[in-house]
Amino acid sequence: MDWMVKTQAPEKVKAPAVLVAVFEGAAALEGDAAGIDAALEGTLKERLAGEGFKGKPREVALLDSRGTVPSPRIAVFGLGKKKEFHTDRVREGVAKTLRLLRDRGVASAAVSLDVGAVSASPGEIAEATMEGAFLGLYRFDRFKTGDEEARKEWTRLVFLGTRKEKTKIEEALKRAEAVSKAVLFARDLVCTPANGMYPKDLAAAATDMAEGRPLKVTALDEKALEELGMNAFLSVARGSDQPPRLIVVEYRGGGAKEKPVVLVGKGITFDSGGISLKPADRMHEMKGDMAGGAAVLAAIRAAADLGLPLNLVAVVPATENLPGGRATRPGDVVKSLSGKTIEIINTDAEGRLLLADALTYAGKFEPAALIDTATLTGACVVALGPDVAGLFANDRGLAEKILKASEKTAETVWELPLHKSYGERLKSDVADMKNTGGREGGAITAALFLERFAGNFPWAHLDIAGPAFSTKGRPYVPKGGTGFAVRLLVEVLRSWKAAPKTSSGPKA
Ligand code: BES
Ligand code: MN
Ligand code: ZN
Repeated sequence: MDWMVKTQAPEKVKAPAVLVAVFEGAAALEGDAAGIDAALEGTLKERLAGEGFKGKPREVALLDSRGTVPSPRIAVFGLGKKKEFHTDRVREGVAKTLRLLRDRGVASAAVSLDVGAVSASPGEIAEATMEGAFLGLYRFDRFKTGDEEARKEWTRLVFLGTRKEKTKIEEALKRAEAVSKAVLFARDLVCTPANGMYPKDLAAAATDMAEGRPLKVTALDEKALEELGMNAFLSVARGSDQPPRLIVVEYRGGGAKEKPVVLVGKGITFDSGGISLKPADRMHEMKGDMAGGAAVLAAIRAAADLGLPLNLVAVVPATENLPGGRATRPGDVVKSLSGKTIEIINTDAEGRLLLADALTYAGKFEPAALIDTATLTGACVVALGPDVAGLFANDRGLAEKILKASEKTAETVWELPLHKSYGERLKSDVADMKNTGGREGGAITAALFLERFAGNFPWAHLDIAGPAFSTKGRPYVPKGGTGFAVRLLVEVLRSWKAAPKTSSGPKA
């Protein structure tokens, strides 16, 4: 999709459609909607009312301009009540409107960035608009043949801004384009079926992505993992004929001696459950069990594109979890990279096994902070539903940074407790611990398990089992891989140095 900024008013621009936004229940029209209204001789409200349009979030009205303005269609989307305004209303409204227009065969539009006086800056409105467009128009159609839907493609978007803000808006749009493309990169990886996304393919995707970017990629193979002693990770890989990979991507945007932030992402390219086989009904969705890995690869890609001033490492342990003649059996004991031994009670609780070794491995970078993201437990989906991720952290400052970023990107996370006494449930009769803690509080016991491998580093864990994959779809989140946590992680990294220090010690 091409885009450009024009310093033209929406009632003056000529495009196949022009988009403006309207608040719900406002006495007077604001921003660019007022300009359109003037061109319509004060009839915009009346015409919207005629369509039953109230300005609620996600509401869209398509009006025929009847020659009042140069553009044949005026598309109006609702922003909800002004006092409840959030930039996510723009993301949703733009996404829904552009999809509707695309369905009608429109391929290009001009969009107003002036919604009226709100707390968000013009740059923030511009970012949300760009994200709404890119994320909303996304389709995973690589495997569709034929001319279904005539494969209508969106081609161009013209952003309407004022001369004074043009440079700022352009910069914001460039950033938003880079971040949005990173989200789409993650979605593509997640949507790709498991027979096209073996561990080696995920590693190749990381290498291809790094091409032309200031990123260094290393992919450790099975032999290297054996030499290191990553046996918890390797125990998961044993049932598959596809060899595992430990993908490590490094970005140096900070000082030579500055400690990096290390992002760790679960990279199960298919989770059958292993010998503890899953039921068949929703097993196909487990092609998305590498969504955490995809998210951290996408985040480091965006960090490089934005030139963020910090050091960053992404670590993705990638393997399939399959049953087979060599597969790990329930009851087997493995010695993890940390030296701690684990009794594997359920081979379907595989994510924590590879993450345990990946977290230990991450420790060698002496991280300033460790953040892992993983489609870890069905229990988290039961607790928080499909749209909300679970957050766990051993460090208040880090948890607050993530919560604040999530408020901004509208990727909802909810903090759950690392309730210490539940650690009892991980006691094993034969090893240092077992890999499951029973059904109750399953997201918590999984997080407690990971905490044991995070060392003394500030660490946070995002359980994205619910929001990583969408079965219903939302305005800018089509069905399938969502790219959840990419924008959130990028926002955490963007505000990394501005935010208060993560020290829990007394104030100076
Ligand atoms: N990948 C799954 C978790 C999952 C479930 C992700 C639903 C997305 C949607 C994970 O490996 C798993 O199987 N977890 C088990 C753990 C249990 C055996 C302790 C689970 O949640 O059932
Ligand atoms: Mn599993
Ligand atoms: Zn899994």
